[in-house]
Amino acid sequence: MQIHLYDHAEQVGQAAATLIAAQVISKPDSVLGLATGSTPIPTYQALIKMYRDGVLDFSKVRTFNLDEYCKLPIDHECSYHSFMREQLFDHINLPLDHTRVPNGNAENLQEEGANYDMAISRAGGIDIQVLGIGRNGHIGFNEPANAFVYGCHVVNLTQSTIEANRRFFDSEDDVPRQAISLGIGSIMNARKVLLLATGEDKAQAIRDAIYGDINPKTQASILRTHPDVIFLLDKAAAGLL
Ligand code: GLP
Repeated sequence: MQIHLYDHAEQVGQAAATLIAAQVISKPDSVLGLATGSTPIPTYQALIKMYRDGVLDFSKVRTFNLDEYCKLPIDHECSYHSFMREQLFDHINLPLDHTRVPNGNAENLQEEGANYDMAISRAGGIDIQVLGIGRNGHIGFNEPANAFVYGCHVVNLTQSTIEANRRFFDSEDDVPRQAISLGIGSIMNARKVLLLATGEDKAQAIRDAIYGDINPKTQASILRTHPDVIFLLDKAAAGLL
């Protein structure tokens, strides 16, 4: 496990984008595991810049997102489908049919989860997985629990996550209560994992993930057992280490 510290969130984004760029340059048909949230936005901006500067070509890349809210229309401004288009997909030459985000509106969500995991396997597995972290240590939408769940599955969001994500919606009542998320097994199967954390409100989760017990109460703690994981942190997120 590697931990890299940076002064600012922008530098975390530059570092993550550099590692993703190296992956895409060395394997043009890379499979990227992507995350939403405020944390990876500087990474996506840096990737867009590298594309515009002619350094990166995404035409053969395939992507799988970590998660999506359930029962939120795909074109809702707060859906992760919309987020990815706005923050990345619409600005680079990645064919939209090479991108996948779990379908939180599928009639049979269990089947959707199984199909999603299968699609990742058929694509050859994830080469590099980008992760943020929830204030409660969640990765994807794998909330604190009594067990780690292996596959893509439906999750009941915790009050802490609903409150954290409320800022994107008109009111707390509008925040969906359920999501569909890649499981811990699929995340751990990625060949390389980048965990990004910025800001003081992530400091406790980062401390628990790095120094706490490896325990499903802090889902990110399992990453310490991954053979190739890099934590990219700004000073504020590393403040309790
Ligand atoms: C959501 C996402 C996570 C993300 C987390 C943190 O809950 N499901 O994948 O890591 O938010 O978001 P932010 O980066 O905005 O703090």
